[in-house]
Amino acid sequence: MTQRHRDTEKNAKNLLCSFSLCLCVSVSLFFLATACRQDMHDQPKYIALRPSSFFNDGRSARPPVDGAIARGHLNDDAALHTGKAADGKPLDTFPFPVTKEVIERGRARFNIYCTPCHDRTGNGEGMIVRRGYRKPPSYHIDRLRQVPNGYIYDVIANGFGAMPDHAAQIQPHDRWAIVAYVRALQLSQNATVNDVPADARAQLNGATER
Ligand code: HEC
Repeated sequence: MTQRHRDTEKNAKNLLCSFSLCLCVSVSLFFLATACRQDMHDQPKYIALRPSSFFNDGRSARPPVDGAIARGHLNDDAALHTGKAADGKPLDTFPFPVTKEVIERGRARFNIYCTPCHDRTGNGEGMIVRRGYRKPPSYHIDRLRQVPNGYIYDVIANGFGAMPDHAAQIQPHDRWAIVAYVRALQLSQNATVNDVPADARAQLNGATER
């Protein structure tokens, strides 16, 4: 046998040896991994309201520390959240500036949540009313034109008589935006020519002439 032949034989043996070692390691790794396998649907955690023998009160969930406030629920602006001034009377202003964007937002929310009963102009002839639900008063009666903003806010937040409250579906900022839009609706149904800016009156006259 030549030197060259012997070398090739040695190399082949080495290769076979490292291959079987490799196989051994991967097989044992495979068994190790499957032995520790934990499916995602079988996690070491408590499901809400599950009992626990670890805590004295038998509950797995810990009660919040006294005085804890959930994030986003501080509600430290009483006027914004209750619609009432410091003296407890309904606010007649707005807790933030009313811009065109606020009124547009109010219009969108009003058309979604209020028109089924109050209709788009606020006359109280919504589709649900036409199908037999109690008819609300029109927004354009003197009494409702004179109520303060905070009163309308309160009706949205807490309901009124046959009207259900909308606290869950409309958050405070949007309630105020709706109040602003109700005010705009009221103005739209009771405006006189004097409410139109002087430079726009000419256009109105132009419209009537046509
Ligand atoms: C399911 C129908 C319904 C929806 C939706 C509804 N309302 Fe009403 N609303 C009523 C009825 C009915 C009344 C009259 C209740 C009564 O006198 O018992 C009323 C009354 C009112 C009043 C007058 C309260 C008063 O002093 O007479 C206001 C203001 C008002 N709603 C605003 C709103 C606003 C704003 C929305 C939308 C966020 C809304 N409502 C959504 C049915 C509805």
